[in-house]
Amino acid sequence: MKFFIDTANLEQIKEAQALGVLDGVTTNPSLMAKEGISGKNNVLKHYVDICNIVDGDVSAEVIATDYEGMIREGEELSELHEQIVVKLPMTKEGVKACKYFSDRGIKTNVTLVFSAGQALLAAKAGATYVSPFIGRLDDVSTDGLALIEEIRDIYDNYGYQTEILAASVRHTMHIVNCAKIGADVMTGPLSAILGLLKHPLTDIGLAQFLADHAKANQ
Ligand code: G3P
Repeated sequence: MKFFIDTANLEQIKEAQALGVLDGVTTNPSLMAKEGISGKNNVLKHYVDICNIVDGDVSAEVIATDYEGMIREGEELSELHEQIVVKLPMTKEGVKACKYFSDRGIKTNVTLVFSAGQALLAAKAGATYVSPFIGRLDDVSTDGLALIEEIRDIYDNYGYQTEILAASVRHTMHIVNCAKIGADVMTGPLSAILGLLKHPLTDIGLAQFLADHAKANQ
């Protein structure tokens, strides 16, 4: 499973990259705003800065909601850097724009996906990635992981190449369960990735090893 980090924070992206397990980055307008990045030129420069830190795909979301605007923005974003993936909302215009970009070999990520039907449509439009938001489904008493399972089944039935990018991952068990189901990618916060490291028996075991070594080498 690929690991993407879901942030626009350069320090966190660097930390995840330094760990050696990072395959890409996803951003959205809220995450950019959280870092205080505003104004077109600053936003574009920030995407390039992110691309220069990581080796893999970097999702950059369009703001336009009309088809022509999405095409204009997406083309500009894709020309910024070869690692840019054009992120499009799951709307009628977004699906049309996804088809436009996939026909031209430009990578896409269809976001704000909350149902299997939406994921099927994204695959039909040739999306590179589809982003079901599992945490936000959990927030409204709906099983986000069950959606990942449904999409996995549907894509496997027909051999769709669209990668399931489990998004809105909130914690470490989301990552583990997505891996069990067979999500192709997960995107989550640094805290969820670092959470995978933790086990008290690892800490206790290491402390014992070091204590025994120190005793034997007094
Ligand atoms: O990847 C989608 C993500 O940014 C949304 O996460 O935690 O705001 O639901 P969250």
